[in-house]
Amino acid sequence: MSCPALPDGFDATDPDLLQSRVPHPEFAQLRQTAPVWWCPQRRGVTGFDDEGYWVVTRHADVKYVSTHPELFSSTTNTAIIRFNEHIQRDAIDAQRLIMLNMDPPEHTRVRQIVQRGFTPRAIRGLEEALRDRARKIVEEASAAAADGSFDFVTQVACELPLQAIAELIGVPQKDRSKIFDWSNKMIAYDDPEYAITEEVGANAAMELIGYAMNLSAERKECPAKDIVTQLVAAEGQGNLGSDEFGFFVLLLAVAGNETTRNAISHGMHAFLTHPEQWELYKATRPSTAAEEIVRWATPVVSFQRTATQDTELGGQKIKAGDRVGLFYSSANHDPEVFTDPDAFDITRDPNPHLGFGGGGPHFCLGKSLAIMEIDLIFNALADALPDLRLTGDDPRRLRAAWLNGIKELRVSHG
Ligand code: HEM
Repeated sequence: MSCPALPDGFDATDPDLLQSRVPHPEFAQLRQTAPVWWCPQRRGVTGFDDEGYWVVTRHADVKYVSTHPELFSSTTNTAIIRFNEHIQRDAIDAQRLIMLNMDPPEHTRVRQIVQRGFTPRAIRGLEEALRDRARKIVEEASAAAADGSFDFVTQVACELPLQAIAELIGVPQKDRSKIFDWSNKMIAYDDPEYAITEEVGANAAMELIGYAMNLSAERKECPAKDIVTQLVAAEGQGNLGSDEFGFFVLLLAVAGNETTRNAISHGMHAFLTHPEQWELYKATRPSTAAEEIVRWATPVVSFQRTATQDTELGGQKIKAGDRVGLFYSSANHDPEVFTDPDAFDITRDPNPHLGFGGGGPHFCLGKSLAIMEIDLIFNALADALPDLRLTGDDPRRLRAAWLNGIKELRVSHG
């Protein structure tokens, strides 16, 4: 079905779209005229692909698909863009070990185990260490600010998400720089500017998995009072095999790293371009701010499901095997759900955004951790660097198909 309102050859995963403008005005058109729309091709970062996919743009439909895993499966690569050839070859079976790509009941089993590491108590237990870390990051940024303008992404946004994952799984300080290096290489290969080859990215992933598998073997041998022990060596409650644990850590390094980094970078950019919101934040520190930052930024633009049987969605006939793209960034600007959806309003409440997913079985496991990190970093910034301002042009954006990323955001203080 063609959509007359859209430019010829429009593809909702075109990386050039994400580089220029979010939210896309095209999504508003689609929500109104063709909310479940068949896009005949997609460009992707790694090359043109002429298989089509459904573009689902309304909040209600994204939620419906997310909460019906029996109709819309996650087992076929959930990112809209397929892994490129190299990663595909090395990781084809690995895909099945990543919980994001599982359906119930297998997913339910793994999720029940890993949830032990993400209880409110476990997350609260990280708060003190992460608060100190956030203050330290901002202190170092203050020193950089004294010398002039600096890049907010590398100086502030990058470190806390990785520290949080390292804290969570108890990676010793001496190993953290290795973990950070592997994680950064894995997520960077998408963008040609980073000059990270596919092979380097794939090798980094394999090294990270190997590291995590060793850690789990050590804990099985010698249980400790930490989360790794709870996940791999707990008696009688089911546990993860070493390979499952390795891939779980890999998932955390991807799912919890760049997402939170981009939420922080976009949050800063939103504050700097909406100074009245920054003044309000500094004065009142509302607990609603972090959720609005995630809605506004929607770091994960889309994920994919595959129809398990012929079904219907938004009046369209979906065939078994059709790919279905869930566009969270569109759902998060749906005027049916959000008053004044294009306004950045840190007091927005309620805020039923889908930035962490549509509420189904795969709903973001790290949501409370991410919200805590965002709160901690902006509190530290409001205390120690309250007068940041933009110095460059627009932020430099990541060239990616399903991530709304910022590569560089130049700021100065005072
Ligand atoms: C899943 C977003 C931070 C761990 C997801 C999903 C989204 C998402 C959209 C898929 C939901 C679905 O398919 O229904 C985000 C955003 C974050 C963030 C925007 C930051 C602002 C984190 C953090 C962690 C994490 C900090 C952990 C350290 C995971 C895991 C899954 C997941 C393990 C897979 C859950 C499953 O398959 O059951 N996240 N995430 N995320 N996220 Fe996050």
